[in-house]
Amino acid sequence: MIKIGPYTLDNPLIVAPMAGVTDRPFRTLCKHFGAGHAVSEMMTVDAALYANKKSLFRANFEGELAPVSAQIAGSEPEMLAEAARYQVANGAQIVDINMGCPARKVCRKLAGSALLQDEDLVKRILDTVVAAVDVPVTLKTRLGYVNGEENILRVAEMAEQAGIAALAIHGRTREQMYTGQARYGLIREVKRNASIPIIANGDIDTPQKAKHVLDVTGADAVMIGRAAQGRPWIFREVGHYLQTGELLPPPAVAEVREVLLGHLDDLYRFYGEYSGCRIARKHIAWYTNGLHDSNAFRQQMYAQESTAGQARVVDAYFRALLERDERLSYIDQASPGFDSSQPSDCPLNSNPALEEGVCNTPLQGNIFVGAYCIRPLHGEINPPPAPTPHAPAPAAAAGACTANPPPEPPSPDG
Ligand SMILES: Cc1cc2nc3c(=O)[nH]c(=O)nc-3n(C[C@H](O)[C@H](O)[C@H](O)COP(=O)(O)O)c2cc1C
Repeated sequence: MIKIGPYTLDNPLIVAPMAGVTDRPFRTLCKHFGAGHAVSEMMTVDAALYANKKSLFRANFEGELAPVSAQIAGSEPEMLAEAARYQVANGAQIVDINMGCPARKVCRKLAGSALLQDEDLVKRILDTVVAAVDVPVTLKTRLGYVNGEENILRVAEMAEQAGIAALAIHGRTREQMYTGQARYGLIREVKRNASIPIIANGDIDTPQKAKHVLDVTGADAVMIGRAAQGRPWIFREVGHYLQTGELLPPPAVAEVREVLLGHLDDLYRFYGEYSGCRIARKHIAWYTNGLHDSNAFRQQMYAQESTAGQARVVDAYFRALLERDERLSYIDQASPGFDSSQPSDCPLNSNPALEEGVCNTPLQGNIFVGAYCIRPLHGEINPPPAPTPHAPAPAAAAGACTANPPPEPPSPDG
């Protein structure tokens, strides 16, 4: 079983850090469904921002099942070390360093995956942060910065020498952003050479894929991100398959209704009435994507301005669904991704200065990651996402990989 420092995880299934998604309510839910571990959304290392509302929500670990892992993103070794100390004092039992985020806003500051361009700096960051705290420090990164110059083998060696307790690798380069497919061959190479736990990440969306990735990489664990959006029970499905070789039936509609209403309740209590209602929208959209009559339902749901109204329409939708089907059944629906028949609400369309933002109907040509649009760098392409029955398709406002994610609607208390 995988060990991170003194912590032995119950199973090899880890929730990927996702800014705007993996807040405390979502991490708790995934752990309830059997995830062995979860990493927080990335947090800024800028001490001036520690007290802002977003940072406080992200650094809230109250009541979370151990081990609590706080992810930090930055580029200055000393600032990262200070942030690590701050998070440990705040309750973190593991500190995770982000060297994987491809977002321009982050990379422009030479943070996230941009760090992979400067191996000396990588080494200094790892050494400094590991020395700064007496809890395990983990690293999450990509194969490299550009295709053809993947340096993950050297980075992994540095990580091991620095005393990093576990290394999670997303099988893409920064250049790939989220395009193409995750590659697992280099993760296997790293695993062959490493004596620290290796966690494989990228495009794992079914129990069979999880097993395949564990088999081909030899990794100690897999990390699942987008496929858990609106489908936190994926950890139960994967865990069951790994243990028995059998696939569970889809969850009962009645259970999903309860899970979603419980999730909403947690979000409302965590974020409060105004933000709770707005943050919940993307989760509801993910849960219902591909289900019967869900497009019409979502329009109705987006119009709700109160948590009570939102919970009421969700409840009514699932009660109606229950009359049709006992178990969750996805129908083939047009992907709410690139839809040329819809006017695009993409903020990149109206503001040429913007490089990334939240939208429901992105423009063809942009990189689209779960309701988040990124203007492509030269040569980057993003094929329209194919609608897949289980993969939660983008539908509602979601944060993506940014230390300061896309703004949510202003809340009354600032
Ligand atoms: C909306 C979104 C937000 C993300 N935020 C973070 C983050 O805060 N820190 C990080 O290390 N990776 C972040 N990632 C990357 C994921 O952790 C993961 O590496 C990536 O999505 C690939 O895994 P998947 O195919 O299972 O989704 C984010 C990804 C998405 C889609």
